[in-house]
Amino acid sequence: MSVDLRTRVDSEQAPVEAGRFFRETLPPLLDAHQAQITPGASELPLEDFCIETDGEPWTLAWHEDRVAVEAGSHGAARVRLTAEQLSDFVNDQSTPVALMSNRLLDMPEGGLPDFLNWWLVLRAALDGRRIHARGDVTFDTDIRRSFTLDDSDEEMRAFLEEAGYLHLEGLFSEEEMAAVEADFPKAAPHFEKGDPRAWFATTQDGEEHLVRMEGFDRYSEVAVELIDQERFQRIARIPGVGHTTTRKPGARVGALIKPIGVVKGISDVPWHKDCSLGRHSYECCNLTVGISVTGADASCGQLRVVPGTHRALVWPAPCVQPGLDLEPVDLPTRTGDVTVHLSCTQHMSQPPVTRTRKVLYTGFGQPSANPEAAEANRQRLNAVRSKTHTSISQQPGYLGDRSGPGDAAGRAISRRSPPPQKASHK
Ligand SMILES: [Fe+2]
Repeated sequence: MSVDLRTRVDSEQAPVEAGRFFRETLPPLLDAHQAQITPGASELPLEDFCIETDGEPWTLAWHEDRVAVEAGSHGAARVRLTAEQLSDFVNDQSTPVALMSNRLLDMPEGGLPDFLNWWLVLRAALDGRRIHARGDVTFDTDIRRSFTLDDSDEEMRAFLEEAGYLHLEGLFSEEEMAAVEADFPKAAPHFEKGDPRAWFATTQDGEEHLVRMEGFDRYSEVAVELIDQERFQRIARIPGVGHTTTRKPGARVGALIKPIGVVKGISDVPWHKDCSLGRHSYECCNLTVGISVTGADASCGQLRVVPGTHRALVWPAPCVQPGLDLEPVDLPTRTGDVTVHLSCTQHMSQPPVTRTRKVLYTGFGQPSANPEAAEANRQRLNAVRSKTHTSISQQPGYLGDRSGPGDAAGRAISRRSPPPQKASHK
């Protein structure tokens, strides 16, 4: 069960013309992958859905056990895309979540849930992936366990492949973490408002806080020394499929400070896969590694994951898909512990309520077959990612295992989408 799930390379993207795509390309793909579509799609509330591309409408309809693609608009839900957005969507360079995050989701009827349900169907047809159906993902081992440096790579690999995450206890000492923590205030003055590497959030008292410093490795020699050590680099070898340090110097480490009571801006990201904005089929699974500079639990900013979601084509965000038969797991950590999650394992960080949390994030990826084309497309996606802290927010104490009114997921999946903005999403 390899965690290398890549099926595309950036240099092999076919141009997409809406009429030809809906008339000639999509119907045979739907037929060819019907066995991967029907079980999961039958469990989804699939309203007739119109995709209107530069004014040209095509409607997708679910008839008993298959999809019909029809010219014209007669859907209960409708999304308006530009030709460029459709092309990015088909080529897996963008997703409904990316459009929402960039405030470019234009749905005069229906809402994000309609788009996400049909996104599952379209991804199944376009990528040959099976839509998750209840009972598809099972586990042979206890999916709530931790590891230490004494455990073997093979044992950790088996768990990672099955559960999609790892918790490594005591990788670093309290003294090492104290040295990293001392660099936080030294790095902070280098991050000002307006810098895309800096995220800010406002707490209940109206004070604005620097909550994320991307490129912290520029200002912390200690952090760089620690992540270059063998005990940390070993993590890249655990999956056994060629992960390495793909992040560039100066952009290797993000340092997060999670204050209590954020009311504006984002400090703790709601449920998502790291591929929720796109590029799953080009990059998954990357490894994201969190280093607990301070410990974390349910009251102070712990990570939570939904084991097995990397093996399931499900909503990638902004909440756990309604009706999903996989359950979240809490990952409390002590100072010096490390968490590892795959880029398509759904996860969230729980907003702290008792004390501020500090954590470093870094990771490993697999080298692309076409690094230049991959980097160009990755940069376009990063432009979306750098805006998410201003376009998504969540309440203190947010859990969001299932969306509800008043939380980020509830707002994000409201039936009426925010009005589109004129700026291009590129
Ligand atoms: Fe993430």
